[in-house]
Amino acid sequence: ELSPIDKAKFVAAKRAADMVEDGMRVGLGTGSTAAWLVRCLGEMVREDGLKIKGVPTSTRTAELAREVGIEVISLDEARWLDITIDGADEFDGDLNLIKGGGGALLQEKIVATASDQMVVIADVGKEVETLGAFPLPVEVIPFGWQTTKALIEETLISMDVLGRQTSLRMNGEVPFMTDEGNHIIDLHLSRIGNARQLAMVLNQMPGVVENGLFIDICDVVVVGYGDGRVELRD
Ligand code: A5P
Repeated sequence: ELSPIDKAKFVAAKRAADMVEDGMRVGLGTGSTAAWLVRCLGEMVREDGLKIKGVPTSTRTAELAREVGIEVISLDEARWLDITIDGADEFDGDLNLIKGGGGALLQEKIVATASDQMVVIADVGKEVETLGAFPLPVEVIPFGWQTTKALIEETLISMDVLGRQTSLRMNGEVPFMTDEGNHIIDLHLSRIGNARQLAMVLNQMPGVVENGLFIDICDVVVVGYGDGRVELRD
């Protein structure tokens, strides 16, 4: 028996899996909700003979996809994708997102951008009026990360952004490492007034590789509820 939150994630994933058709190239997201999707698709491959090629957004997802029987190819082998299905940490009424709680935002953004359609699967608890309560992940290269972190803080002050605290994401005693060998700085902003502007400003800083704001990338959010209901936002 699934907990309400897992049930919500599962029903959203199941509904999104039904959008996948034979012959599609599918971007496979990262996180606990996306893991449900990968397991659903694996079952459809094994039991219904669904023929797809999957492009994973992390080594974790690649392992799971292979385990459940999905053929895995690289993004450059695929070049473009029919659909990417991924989780999110927050989504708003314009379908803009915060992603990267799982640390895979860079590959997730590259894969989603290479897709005709990005479908987000999420439990209703991730729906927000204004993005920012979830700490915004920013991927930075290890060289000079403290200097980059200080530059981010100064910029937040000059932009008059609420809540300017930043923290280096840790993995126990050592800095967390992304699949691309970078670090993550989490920005504790509480509310992001102008997400589009912040995303652009962050990405212009030397040392910043990418940030977790997904603006105008998502096409539809499949929202799952603990009682098994599903709603689409588009
Ligand atoms: C991974 O880097 C994130 O972008 C995930 O999509 C996000 O953290 C959602 O994860 P859950 O589905 O586990 O909440």
